[in-house]
Amino acid sequence: MRICQIHLRPFRNFDHLDLDFGAGGVLIIGDNGRGKSNILEAISYLSLGKSIRGARDQQAIPHHGTWFDIRGMWDDGQRQHQARVFYSAEEGKRVFLDGAPLQRVSELVSQFNTVHFSPEDVALVLQFSAQRRRLLDILISQAYSSYLQNLQRYGRVLTQRNHLLRQLGQRRADSAEAGVWASQLAEPGAAIRRSRLEALVELAPTLKSSYSGFSTGREQAGIIYQDAELPATLAAIPSTDELRTTLLDQLHADPVKEQRAGYTLAGPHRDSFGFTLDGESAETYGSQGQLKSILLSWKMAESRYLQTRSGHQPVVLFDDVFSELDEMRAQQLLTLAEDFDQVILTAPRNPGAEIPAHYQRIELSN
Ligand SMILES: Nc1ncnc2c1ncn2[C@@H]1O[C@H](COP(=O)(O)OP(=O)(O)OP(=O)(O)O)[C@@H](O)[C@H]1O
Ligand SMILES: [Mg+2]
Repeated sequence: MRICQIHLRPFRNFDHLDLDFGAGGVLIIGDNGRGKSNILEAISYLSLGKSIRGARDQQAIPHHGTWFDIRGMWDDGQRQHQARVFYSAEEGKRVFLDGAPLQRVSELVSQFNTVHFSPEDVALVLQFSAQRRRLLDILISQAYSSYLQNLQRYGRVLTQRNHLLRQLGQRRADSAEAGVWASQLAEPGAAIRRSRLEALVELAPTLKSSYSGFSTGREQAGIIYQDAELPATLAAIPSTDELRTTLLDQLHADPVKEQRAGYTLAGPHRDSFGFTLDGESAETYGSQGQLKSILLSWKMAESRYLQTRSGHQPVVLFDDVFSELDEMRAQQLLTLAEDFDQVILTAPRNPGAEIPAHYQRIELSN
């Protein structure tokens, strides 16, 4: 897969910007604050329908403006597609695919797949459980549209159940209702857990092998789920029925505690996965360099996963990646990048690595 064009009219600091991208490697260079990260964010808007940085749509409207409008065209190897994401506070978000309006933003997700790395993620993702869940949710949503639908359904029921729990805490509702919401949560909840487990089991081997390529140390990277080892194979993952029963048990475990808390204490919204180095928590014990290597290895695993699932290589967006890497790892990354249909890198003026001559260079002038 490759993105061929992007048109911003406007988006963040760009009044208007038109870029053409070639296949293979692309290097966007420009001074700090010139808008390199914004361009990658705009590209991933076409992929996710929302900001990869977790920003609200409103924040992507230029200061003093009232809307943003991103149009792009990509080639999936068979044909070209166009998408457009428009947002204004007045009209809300409107999304188009190949010229036709989509009923829901989520219909855009899984059409054009991207993998995005940014240096900020090293701290964010590796520190907060919620950020790691988000990473996984974004990934699986790109592979399966049903996953996103389950997430949305789960989120809606969760809000209603939490509302009820608050009311129960104040003795303003009937406790039988909590059971009804629990079984409604268990359905999408079990499906979400099953997909997450499948994804993690598939991602783990690539994460491991990429990490040993990136790191100079002899430590082994791994993934844990709910503080335990992952199932060794896909076949060892509990069935959706079993997962549903487990989740229901958790939801019924301590009604008094839940009512006191006023929210749902267990479920996919609180599940955790994390990274390990030689079996110890990477978040707790890993060095900065090790954490960077883990996140990059995870991104390699993401690409492989999306390719296997969708049959297309995602477009790889690596923001300011060299600032995070020493010379040797930067070279290693460039070597790995040769395997992708398209990699878009950003760097300030002087990237510290030897960028191959075939890379397309886009200079953002002042
Ligand atoms: N909604 C917005 N409206 C106008 N300008 C914005 C908006 N959001 C961000 N900016 C501006 O965009 C610029 C930052 O762009 P971006 O983060 O893409 O820069 P960058 O080229 O990646 O810089 P660096 O090399 O420091 O990472 C800043 O000048 C910021 O003020
Ligand atoms: Mg930047």
